[in-house]
Amino acid sequence: MTRLVEHDATGPRKLDESDLDPEKGDVAVCQCGLSGEFPFCDGTHRQTDGESDGVCYRYVEADGELRRRRVERVELADGGGADPDE
Ligand code: FES
Repeated sequence: MTRLVEHDATGPRKLDESDLDPEKGDVAVCQCGLSGEFPFCDGTHRQTDGESDGVCYRYVEADGELRRRRVERVELADGGGADPDE
């Protein structure tokens, strides 16, 4: 499975000691791309449970909930396109 996510940052985020979880003493960095507290994991990755191999998804907010949608095709501005599952 893959996921289409949107980020608007244009540079790196430098972490420091204040980013450490005071209870666990570590930093959990989001790798699913869905966290509302990006770059930190906020547990939203649990919504990816049940994703199928070979399928591309996009998560959209609707009625206050994050909903999973299957991506069938990506269209590029220059007219190109691609099946995200290939
Ligand atoms: S890995 Fe993305 S929210 Fe946890």
